[in-house]
Amino acid sequence: MVAYKSKVVEPISLPSRERRERALEAAGYNVFNLASEDVFVDLLTDSGTGAMSDAQWAALVRGDEAYAGSRSFDRLASAVRDVMGFEYVVPTHQGRGAENVLYGTLLSEGDVVPNNTHFDTTRAHVANQGAEPIDCPTPGAFDPSLEAPFKGDLSLEHAREVVDEVGADRVPVVIQTITNNSTAGQPVSVENTRRVRAFADEIDATFVIDACRFAENAAFVRQREPDFADDVAIDEIVREQLSHADAVVMSGKKDGLVNAGGFVATDDPDLFDRCKQRAILYEGFPTYGGMAGRDLAAMAVGLREAVDASYVEDRLESVQTLASLLEDVGVPIYRPVGGHAVYLDAGEALSHLSPSAFPGQALVCELYREGGVRGVELGSFAFPGTERPELVRLAVPRRTYHREHFEHVAETAEAVLESATTVAGLELASEPTMPEIRHFTAELEPR
Ligand code: F0G
Repeated sequence: MVAYKSKVVEPISLPSRERRERALEAAGYNVFNLASEDVFVDLLTDSGTGAMSDAQWAALVRGDEAYAGSRSFDRLASAVRDVMGFEYVVPTHQGRGAENVLYGTLLSEGDVVPNNTHFDTTRAHVANQGAEPIDCPTPGAFDPSLEAPFKGDLSLEHAREVVDEVGADRVPVVIQTITNNSTAGQPVSVENTRRVRAFADEIDATFVIDACRFAENAAFVRQREPDFADDVAIDEIVREQLSHADAVVMSGKKDGLVNAGGFVATDDPDLFDRCKQRAILYEGFPTYGGMAGRDLAAMAVGLREAVDASYVEDRLESVQTLASLLEDVGVPIYRPVGGHAVYLDAGEALSHLSPSAFPGQALVCELYREGGVRGVELGSFAFPGTERPELVRLAVPRRTYHREHFEHVAETAEAVLESATTVAGLELASEPTMPEIRHFTAELEPR
């Protein structure tokens, strides 16, 4: 069911094929280097790229820019309390700011951190504290064709093995990322969250939820988890799931429905105090923490909108629409479809290319060349040295694109697949020093 009509529009156009060819070459075959004006349908990320509601724009104008004690901060704190159930909040400029504040507070050299799957900035922030990030996805999470309701879950068996190997003393933090961005946006069941809570208690660890896409996760829980029949409200599910965590890190650029912002939230006054001090160092005074007052105000409204059933059901439906259109023209995708993106199976689509030829990145480049569509590779290029499927993520910005845009994406992918065997693959031309984040800046060239 469509839940919006447009009030503000932004013109877009498809640049000529010649211009796309030139832009791709000048970008070093890395679409992060493209100018957005050269992109037609931009599915690079769902982060900070969505449309705000009229209520959010109204709140923006009334934002209180006071350095300390801003009214907009109070609005945000009350939204976090009502929607997510946490008493204390430390705003940050975005999700990775929250990661720096919280993991910088909780971790030290030699620690080991299990997570269902670390997102790239999470991995980098854990590593930046001298700790070791360990992915514990549920078995089958990396199988693009296995149909299962909660492929985002954390494997407690794996996490226990980690603890048995290194000792509980070295595992002060356990993280669960909902939904699990690095495994195709798959949801995490509330049952899994309860079990992780019990596990964290056993080993006396702090349990952190990376809650970027908490509302999308709750909508999946309502559809799929037997304990939560259809009449349970989305925000009740959210509060139940998050109540098991000691703290959350949040990127407001996802389910905060804003273009900038994030926060750490907790019920623990001592942890709050420690986070505030680090936030002053890296983000700002704790009643704004790296955000403008107007952005705090917009996020306060966005958090409440995100748990509205008509919003979040429309959201999942729109991602599903893109997936169905792609499947209708024979494009292999990761199944089931995740919450914020459709993940193409580039290993299957370009099966003649070995991982060393970066089939995912080659597919990303062909989608741009063919139709001005920008996606992102999440395979051998983004995750060097790990065994993962060669996926390409087409992330859907919130409340932004419609069926016609998705039809263009499907037609583009169909055309690319028709001449798939002529795609030769890519090789690295230059590589930055931090391998965890090389896909943002490395350059490539055709083989
Ligand atoms: N955690 C997860 C699960 C994320 O997906 C992201 C961002 C972050 C933390 C960091 O938040 O960008 O506000 O600093 N993901 C974006 C993406 C960038 O494209 O998936 P941030």
